[in-house]
Amino acid sequence: MFLAIANHKGGVGKTTSTLALGGLLAESDPCLLIDLDPQANLTTGLGVELPEQSPGVYHWLIGHLPAAQVIQKTASGIYLIPADAHLTRAEMELLQKSGAFYTLRDRLTGLQRQFRYVLIDCPPSRGVLTINALAAADYVLIPVQCQFFALKGLTALLETVQHVQRRLNPKLKILGVLPTMAELQTIMTQDVMSALKNQPEFHVFPPIPKSVKFPESNLAGEPIHRYTNDPRLLTPLRELVKYIKNIQQQAQQ
Ligand SMILES: Nc1ncnc2c1ncn2[C@@H]1O[C@H](COP(=O)(O)OP(=O)(O)O)[C@@H](O)[C@H]1O
Ligand SMILES: [Mg+2]
Repeated sequence: MFLAIANHKGGVGKTTSTLALGGLLAESDPCLLIDLDPQANLTTGLGVELPEQSPGVYHWLIGHLPAAQVIQKTASGIYLIPADAHLTRAEMELLQKSGAFYTLRDRLTGLQRQFRYVLIDCPPSRGVLTINALAAADYVLIPVQCQFFALKGLTALLETVQHVQRRLNPKLKILGVLPTMAELQTIMTQDVMSALKNQPEFHVFPPIPKSVKFPESNLAGEPIHRYTNDPRLLTPLRELVKYIKNIQQQAQQ
């Protein structure tokens, strides 16, 4: 399954969700994470530091280096295509290519034989890298921060998803919306949750609570389930993982 984790807003929990899901999925299945964000938070969040001259996602995507030469196996058993310093150039260079929107999809061909799950952490924009991820993906997961105005941004993203479904990738489905940084006792979080649940066009997953354990585990370069066993944080994540595994199992039957 190719799963894009996307929201053009920054700081909503895309990378944190990718890390948490990747960690849990990798417990039972080979799982590849792709860092498509020049900020490289996913890469550092897995404790990987790419030396400046080392090839990463840019060289694989644009330079056509074989995946085997850029994939790293991290200490936690997750496979990663790390972001590199050149990725900032990728948007411009992709736009100059014909078939600009299908570059990632073409590069992913064959990788599903090796990895049951491929998770793509998108940059905070609706630019050509995010469009590439949506054009390649079977599903998109949309993390939404439990904040006022969260829904406004969501409408714009859903338009982009619909556009990609119509023009580029009719098989793209919305896996659902993942409420993040939830403070369950506050009116704000409760308002966002009920507004999300009123939208019929997507599934809403159990909210991920706000906790300092997430930034702490990022700093430690560890997936959240190896950093804490707090059930408040892990139960909603395990539910999401169960949902993903069910879908994958059904797709293979
Ligand atoms: N549930 C959470 N509780 C507390 N902090 C969180 C939570 N999820 C993410 N964060 C923190 O919020 C910041 C932004 O999250 P991140 O996943 O990097 O967002 P994005 O990838 O969408 O830009 C990071 O510092 C991250 O550690
Ligand atoms: Mg990010």
